[in-house]
Amino acid sequence: MLSITTSLAAHGAVTKASFGKTADGKAVDIYTLKSPSVEARIMTWGARIVSLKTADRMGKVESVVLGHDSLEGYTGDKKTYFGAIVGRYGNRIAHGRFTIDGHQFQLPLNNNGINTLHGGTVGFDALVWTGKEIPNGVEMSLVSNDGDQGFPGTLTAHVRYTLAGNALKIDYTETTDKPTVVNLTNHSYFNLGGEGSGTILDEIITINADRLTPTDAGLIPTGQTPSVANTPFDFRKPTAIGARINADDSQLKTAGGYDHNWILNGPNGTMKFAAKVHDPKSGRTLTVTTTEPGVQFYTGNFLDGSITGPGGQKYVKNAALCLETQHFPDSPNHPDFPSTLLKPGETRHSTTVFTFSVEK
Ligand code: GLA
Repeated sequence: MLSITTSLAAHGAVTKASFGKTADGKAVDIYTLKSPSVEARIMTWGARIVSLKTADRMGKVESVVLGHDSLEGYTGDKKTYFGAIVGRYGNRIAHGRFTIDGHQFQLPLNNNGINTLHGGTVGFDALVWTGKEIPNGVEMSLVSNDGDQGFPGTLTAHVRYTLAGNALKIDYTETTDKPTVVNLTNHSYFNLGGEGSGTILDEIITINADRLTPTDAGLIPTGQTPSVANTPFDFRKPTAIGARINADDSQLKTAGGYDHNWILNGPNGTMKFAAKVHDPKSGRTLTVTTTEPGVQFYTGNFLDGSITGPGGQKYVKNAALCLETQHFPDSPNHPDFPSTLLKPGETRHSTTVFTFSVEK
């Protein structure tokens, strides 16, 4: 009797509905995951987090991620990757080129015609994944064919979103039938004051990193890994995001704000603290833990007010921040960075947890 109730309760927390159809007629579903403190809606197009609702210190429940109110909003937005699983290689690959076992592969140059960004012209963010309800969550699966966007090997990816209390966990696993490179991440845009509530410049961030990977003008790592000490990139102590964002610093000027990969302290492959964001106004706090070696902290520098969110507010520059837990950008061309190579017979695993709390 008890076990029936428990299993019903577990399944009761997940519901599925239609979210419309793509222009080429593919049905898209949306799953709602509920716990007593968080509600997450996740759709099969791009395996995207569409909304993530949690209460502020006054008990006001709002979504803390940017999004669109319809599937058309998402499919018509080629710029932001709101909430998506990006892949097969999240972030950039220089000149869209890499070599495995002496074979060179060429990817589409979808980032200013120079580099590849987020897996190419049609990345995993813009494909319909197969959703399956699992206890307290949903598993999204995708098979990317050998040669898809120029990448070698048939890649099978499973991304499991599960909600337990105040924590949304994302588990990734990937396998391949030929050696390939892979770097999946989630591209949610957080604003702990609520989506559309203004900028994140007054939110306080801590990043558990002594070093970062500075970039060239195309946002490709130079290969150096300098200390963050005495730079606007030192977030080892809680600091307002806006405190130094306009500092006279060539890295910040090139990216128009923060859009860099921090090298997380602690071992690659083991769960560790990555970052914490606190919004003094609402009291909401987000803590990110991950097995990944890096995190891309991006301050929504390309948002320009041209997108309006479901609440009707314009998404201005710095309207949100991303914490994309990941392997470092352009790793396939940096043998000294943690490897993104995946071989047949191996399974790549990665876990990231977003935990929400309220500080009074
Ligand atoms: C990542 C990149 C940014 C930008 C966004 C999407 O965060 O690092 O430069 O491309 O995705 O706009």
